[in-house]
Amino acid sequence: MLWIKSLHIVFVASWFAGLFYLPRIFVNLAMVPQESVAERERLLLMARKLLRFTTVIAVPALALGVWLWAGYGIGWGPGNGWMHAKLAVVLLVLGYHHSCGVVLRKFVAHRNTRSHVWYRWFNEAPVLMLLVAVILVVVKPF
Ligand code: HEM
Repeated sequence: MLWIKSLHIVFVASWFAGLFYLPRIFVNLAMVPQESVAERERLLLMARKLLRFTTVIAVPALALGVWLWAGYGIGWGPGNGWMHAKLAVVLLVLGYHHSCGVVLRKFVAHRNTRSHVWYRWFNEAPVLMLLVAVILVVVKPF
């Protein structure tokens, strides 16, 4: 079980590395002057590759979590409010991950309307979600 939990933590950390860096690229894309085509294409290529990596790495992160939960029964069933709240946070993280794909497609299609300031705030959301998820699973406050 401890091997599974170790791998779960490593893949979760890698997943969040992608979720932390991808919006950073959006901040830069929102600041690129229209005439800087080469820079824009470079940033779009980086974002595409990073989104693909982040999506692939999310699969083992989630699968190992399900293995701990459903396989070993940790946090399974009633009386494990912490696990239910954590799963709600996981759904928010998945929604955020999906919205990064939507944003990237808007940039590719020259349909972005958000400012770099907006994306700086957007970039803070995964930090808060990680903080809450880790506190729930380590402290198990309820
Ligand atoms: C946002 C995504 C996630 C984060 C940040 C996260 C984080 C963590 C961390 C840091 C631990 C180690 C806690 C410890 O050793 O005390 C852990 C354990 C665990 N995770 Fe996740 N996890 C995530 C997704 C999931 C998912 C999707 C599931 C299940 C569906 C899950 C189920 C579990 C279980 C059952 C444990 C073992 C808890 C224990 O042994 O006390 N996790 N998770």
